[in-house]
Amino acid sequence: MNESTMPQIARRMLSAKAEQFTESVIREMTRLALKHNAVNLSQGFPDFAAPAEIKEAARQAISDDINQYAITWGAKPLRDAIVEKFERTQGVRADPEREITICCGSTEAMMSAMMAIINPGDEIVVFEPFYENYGPDAILSGATPRFVKMHPPGDENSFWCYDEKELAAAFGPNTKAIILNTPNNPTGKVFTRAELEFIRDLCVRWNAFCITDEIYEHILYDGAEHISMARIEGMRERTIVINGMSKTYSVTGWRVGWAIAPPEATSAIRKVHDFLTVGAAAPLQQAGAIALHSPQSYYDKLAANYAEKRGRLLKILERAGFTPFKPRGAYYIMTDISRFPDPDALRFPAATKDVAFAKYLVEEIGVASVPGSSFYNDARDGANQVRFTFCKKESTLAAGEARLAKLHA
Ligand SMILES: Cc1ncc(COP(=O)(O)O)c(C=O)c1O
Repeated sequence: MNESTMPQIARRMLSAKAEQFTESVIREMTRLALKHNAVNLSQGFPDFAAPAEIKEAARQAISDDINQYAITWGAKPLRDAIVEKFERTQGVRADPEREITICCGSTEAMMSAMMAIINPGDEIVVFEPFYENYGPDAILSGATPRFVKMHPPGDENSFWCYDEKELAAAFGPNTKAIILNTPNNPTGKVFTRAELEFIRDLCVRWNAFCITDEIYEHILYDGAEHISMARIEGMRERTIVINGMSKTYSVTGWRVGWAIAPPEATSAIRKVHDFLTVGAAAPLQQAGAIALHSPQSYYDKLAANYAEKRGRLLKILERAGFTPFKPRGAYYIMTDISRFPDPDALRFPAATKDVAFAKYLVEEIGVASVPGSSFYNDARDGANQVRFTFCKKESTLAAGEARLAKLHA
């Protein structure tokens, strides 16, 4: 084979679906942080230790020889613990035998759920800015996304909100589902009961599912309450709840997540999951059963610790010249960078200012962030935004503070 014909042949042999999206920008920023020895405030993984009891439970499970495949839809003790916790926290009773599927992280649970319900021609409604994975999830499952803008707050007392008319217009006879993420990454929005009820009415009217990613359910501030869509009257039978251990127990590398869905949807999700991954790591599922029985004080402390970190990073960013949007949940701060000059205006058009700015931050200032455009369908919508995370230990935030002080708005 001649070298010049190789790339052409290779491209023809690749999947058209895989050609439609790039590698994750968020995860690429972590690689750039390592390359430039930068303080990593980009990807949402804690850089502090996971709880000692949970780590001990994993060690014990391996010693006890829980080392072979678990039942494909998940180890019984973890399914039981998920049911018990969901009922305790949200008042919704699920059947561990017919409504729970444990997957390799909530990432796989979301993908399996979408592949389980999507047919050609189906549309999904997605709020933007959105968690980066939902774009490729739509492409891989064959869904056509209909994006609905979340508008940034105009002042200190307001919050990211959608326009009810725009949302209603996105639904139609082809709508199969709406993807919800509350508490939200990247905005920190926590959907209120009234908002959920408005979405419920649309789902019922158009006979659509709600797939709700609730992975930040315990990371809440200023008295915000997490309400699962499954708890909203009339939604239990059309809601697929996606959740996992990653954020609540600070174990993003364990890759244990789950879907809670009505029996018919669960049986489709379980089939997809079985042939995608067979199952999540058996000893870590065992440890998960112990983690989910943590006392309420564990979750209170988690939220209180993050509240302190949120305050710390908000101040750091304000002092450095950013306009941060204060989150009510999750552990990210979306910022507006309009006040900064475009560091690469000569080489990049204004539409990619966020990319040029994030590149400048990681290479010259030594802090990794995520360019706003990775959360939007149209890159121009995120051109004046950059996201930071504060799920980091104090020494990391302090190092970020020292470096960001070199920035001048
Ligand atoms: C909204 C959201 N969903 C899912 C995930 C990934 O979760 P998991 O580690 O369970 O796959 C993340 C990670 O950042 C996230 O922000």
